[in-house]
Amino acid sequence: MKFLKFENEIEASKYVSQEIIKEIKENNKAILGLATGSTPIKTYEFLSKDFSLNKTDWSKVSSFNLDEYLGIPEYDEQSYRTFMNKTLFNNINIKLENTHFPNKENNYDDLISKAGGIDFQLLGIGVNGHIGFNEPGSLENSLTRVVDLTEETIEVNAKKFFDGDISLVPHQAISMGLKSIMRAKKIILMALGKSKTETIKKLIKCKNFDINFPASILVSHPNVTIVYDKECLNNEI
Ligand code: GLP
Repeated sequence: MKFLKFENEIEASKYVSQEIIKEIKENNKAILGLATGSTPIKTYEFLSKDFSLNKTDWSKVSSFNLDEYLGIPEYDEQSYRTFMNKTLFNNINIKLENTHFPNKENNYDDLISKAGGIDFQLLGIGVNGHIGFNEPGSLENSLTRVVDLTEETIEVNAKKFFDGDISLVPHQAISMGLKSIMRAKKIILMALGKSKTETIKKLIKCKNFDINFPASILVSHPNVTIVYDKECLNNEI
């Protein structure tokens, strides 16, 4: 794992957006694994700006999002589909039919392998170390499946996206598994701000997979970069 520190959220997001643009320029049919949550919002803003200024061509790019809530309609205001359409897909020339989300019917891992596998996977991280919605207890060889969200995740997500109303947050989601994520050729995990300090300190110390800290799976991936900002951690690693 490589660790890269940036001055702030803006600089970190600028870097990640440039890495994504580089990926697309090298391979106009790039297959991207994308994440939701508050962390990638600025990155998606930079990618949207880049499209309006430089017209980077997304017309042959495909995307596979990590996860989606269950129990709310696909185009609900709070669905990850709606989030992605608003923050990125509607602002670039990606074809919506090339953008994918897991659901109970679509054999997501097969769909990803048939497309050729993920070239570049973007990840955020939950305070409890979850990646996608792989909560503590997720198995090393887990594939896309229905998952129960922890109380902690429900509370955190309620504050960030549901006006603090816990009763509105779905209790289940469908998420790529740890094994599905590990199949990506290249991974960038972003950790921004104070709320992730302890999580990243813990990740730095990981040597092996710890079932209680899902992001630890990444220690055995050959191409992972952890992008963090000074507010998250001011130490050099
Ligand atoms: C959410 C998502 C994850 C995300 C994480 C962190 O629940 N399922 O994909 O990376 O939690 O969220 P945030 O970026 O808002 O801190």
